Amino acid sequence: MQGKCAFCHGPNSVAGAPPNGLELDNYDNVMRGSNFFPVVQVGNPEASTLILLLRSGGMPASASPDTPSVPLPEEQINLIARWIEQGAENN
Ligand code: HEC
Repeated sequence: MQGKCAFCHGPNSVAGAPPNGLELDNYDNVMRGSNFFPVVQVGNPEASTLILLLRSGGMPASASPDTPSVPLPEEQINLIARWIEQGAENN
């Protein structure tokens, strides 16, 4: 998520500020979630906004109208989903 998400969801966001207050640049921020809700439901990837948005192709968003966003590969999404399922530990 460092490479694909943090340039928007991070302290140096290209958007000026992290969208909805969601920073994905480190573990604590990922677990804190956005201004509105946690994006990771520990043990339940299918209820985690993070996974739902990745699966639907809703994230990553496109950086500009001329560059289409590139969805994360299925295996990477499954890897994150498994990590959440197994307790989302800081490892
Ligand atoms: C080009 C900028 C950009 C990139 C890259 C990006 N996002 Fe986002 N993200 C946004 C914006 C803008 C919003 C809020 C817009 C909205 O509500 O639809 C958002 C919202 C979200 C939310 C919902 C937070 C909430 O409270 O609504 C999640 C979860 C999320 N992004 C995850 C990710 C993940 C994971 C990645 C990397 C795979 C990623 N994003 C990459 C711009 C980006």
